[in-house]
Amino acid sequence: MENLIPNEEPLRQEYFMSEVNDIIHSRAMDKGAYPTYKVVTFGCQMNARDSEKLSGILSGIGYTEAENEEDADLVLFNTCTVRENANDRLYGRVGQLKKSKEKNHDMIVGICGCMMQEAEEVEKIKKSYRHVDLVFGTHNIYKLAEILFDHLTTKKQIINVMESADMIVEKLPNKRQYAFKSGVNITFGCNNFCSYCIVPYVRGRERSRKPEEIIDEIKTLVADGVKEIMLLGQNVNSYGRGLEEEISFAGLLERIAEIEGLERLRFMTPHPKDLSDEVIEVMKNNKKICKHLHLPLQSGSSAILKKMNRVYTKEDYLNLVKRIKTAIPDISLTTDIIVGFPGETEGDFLDTLEVVKEVRYDSAFTFIYSKRSGTPAAKMEEQVDPKAIKDRFDRLLKTVQDIAAENTKKNEGKCMPALVEGKNEHMEGYLTGKLENNLTVHFKGQERLIGEIVDVILDEAKGFYYMGHIKTSEV
Ligand code: 5AD
Ligand code: SF4
Repeated sequence: MENLIPNEEPLRQEYFMSEVNDIIHSRAMDKGAYPTYKVVTFGCQMNARDSEKLSGILSGIGYTEAENEEDADLVLFNTCTVRENANDRLYGRVGQLKKSKEKNHDMIVGICGCMMQEAEEVEKIKKSYRHVDLVFGTHNIYKLAEILFDHLTTKKQIINVMESADMIVEKLPNKRQYAFKSGVNITFGCNNFCSYCIVPYVRGRERSRKPEEIIDEIKTLVADGVKEIMLLGQNVNSYGRGLEEEISFAGLLERIAEIEGLERLRFMTPHPKDLSDEVIEVMKNNKKICKHLHLPLQSGSSAILKKMNRVYTKEDYLNLVKRIKTAIPDISLTTDIIVGFPGETEGDFLDTLEVVKEVRYDSAFTFIYSKRSGTPAAKMEEQVDPKAIKDRFDRLLKTVQDIAAENTKKNEGKCMPALVEGKNEHMEGYLTGKLENNLTVHFKGQERLIGEIVDVILDEAKGFYYMGHIKTSEV
């Protein structure tokens, strides 16, 4: 039988999908129902996209989606490890499923994603979480059907974590969370090695997808009703490195923007060290590209940036922002900031506040530094006093919030297009839409508008979001 199993991908996975499908089908005949699954996602957009691929494979082999994890026949946790607290949250939930498994003996529990690329975590599962059936990492999510097949046919705990990525497997199924928008990977992995960050160790070296694969995927998504695409990569600027065809990120953006039927194009995350003038120019000249940039600052202090290995100074960053704002005056800027990196002094922190005040972000994700073992920063001494960190964090948050509120206030009364993303769960009869600058607006409207882009008047700014009303008579 071994000989019949194809070695090449995606043929090999298609083979296993068909095998598992047969098993699931015959069990469903006995039980009178098809099994259900729940994929629980932690972390970033990259993980959200991976979860859509995992869901696509599960749907393809006969599973249907469950409402919640306790009732599902297969639960898959797609994990994040960028900060320590994510790990604690995961194990609480995995532990709870032990009880559900006592009731449903056929239940399958799996853990995959970034955390599983860390050997200590896998050891912990082997030792203390025997009820976990499947463990795999970030490099082989495409192998879900094969891993599941191994478990179904042996009943053993299957651990299949690869040290590095052997290939990019294209053309496997995926099941989108939203009908009208989708993430699309353009690069995988990261070569930047910021000294605090675990991503290069868990997602491996940077690899770019071929432009034709990306464009084909987007064309298929658009034909299927997708209006907004978010290009995903740890550092989108370095797109194209290592490909046979010579193509830059700016070149890719231009080619994608030409796709007919695509209405909005976004991307994340650009690294400030190499966001080119060419990209700024393409953004400026292309109506489809959202005038929004998420530009992680991390720290405003040149000394700390050096220790972080960010390869830019405070002045470089501010110069870049000036170039962007000169070219695109209505650009919306957002950022990520870490407080309490080893050795951060009050003076360093004041530099961060200064940059925040000068750039005037529309919003910012603020994080307390989390020590990740295996990273260079974990070995740095001079950990900052937790009380000082808390104080700085609060001051930073207040500054970010005040500026964001002032920024949103300025747009009150303006009319802007919003992509209607869904019903507002808290206000009867209201819908929620996303503006080009990624901010949210709530307004009255009918459900049939979900997935459409409508013009909305922004009546009232509420800090990070707006209340508004639809301009046209479509209400
Ligand atoms: N501690 C705190 N925040 C971190 N981030 C990445 N690594 C760490 C860490 N060790 C933040 C960065 C990054 C975002 C995704 O997470 O700000 O941009
Ligand atoms: Fe995303 Fe990084 Fe978290 Fe992995 S560790 S899910 S790449 S944020």
